[in-house]
Amino acid sequence: MRKKIVAGNWKMNLDRDESKQLFSNIISIKTSDNGPLALVFPPSIYLADFVKLNNGNVSIGAQNFHHADKGAFTGEVSAGQLKSIGCEYVLVGHSERRTLFMEDDQVLLLKIRAALENELQVIYCCGESLEEREQGQFINKIRSQVNLLKTFSTEEMKSISIAYEPIWAIGTGKTASPKQAAEMHDLIREEINVLFGAETSENTSILYGGSCSPKNAHELFMCKNIDGGLIGGASLDANSFHSIISACQ
Ligand code: PGA
Repeated sequence: MRKKIVAGNWKMNLDRDESKQLFSNIISIKTSDNGPLALVFPPSIYLADFVKLNNGNVSIGAQNFHHADKGAFTGEVSAGQLKSIGCEYVLVGHSERRTLFMEDDQVLLLKIRAALENELQVIYCCGESLEEREQGQFINKIRSQVNLLKTFSTEEMKSISIAYEPIWAIGTGKTASPKQAAEMHDLIREEINVLFGAETSENTSILYGGSCSPKNAHELFMCKNIDGGLIGGASLDANSFHSIISACQ
């Protein structure tokens, strides 16, 4: 059985006190036993504090890291360093990293490899731009982004989940309709099936991201191939985040 996951990507928001308050509010509620895994991706500087504060009600991940083990990479943090402070998950391939920080396929592959070598779980993001959707290129785009995973083994795929995040839906308030999202999630699962076979395909969690909110989460999570969400804006409010978690049973 694949895992259901609701993850909050806080991006570069909240100062120390605000983050601590939000984290405390989030962990004060235990998700039900048949509920999803609750996961938060706070800014890196708070990770060590939150690992200590955590009561086990959530898992903690890093939004970014460098693929090298160590060395002269001023300002960077390695996967091994994240592991050493108790971080469990990493995000790789978020559209903001791909576009604003020029992370190409080669870098993403190195990052996934570094994460796996350090026993971190990966959430690999893919998604098309508005232009690609309007020009009918979105199916090929998502296929090729998922195809990047083909260098990993079925064993390694056990540590990789996928988030489908159409770029036109991120932070815009324009969510993909359940029909649009379901079409893409079906496609991603089929692509995993082609690359790795039925068992891996059935066991890979595929999350939806892009203006997911308490209002639309339930309808999205009803789709058979949507296994939870990667939540940006709505994860900055503990009540909204909890409502989305409750919608994913
Ligand atoms: P959003 O962001 O929920 O604010 O659209 C999602 C994301 O970027 O992961």
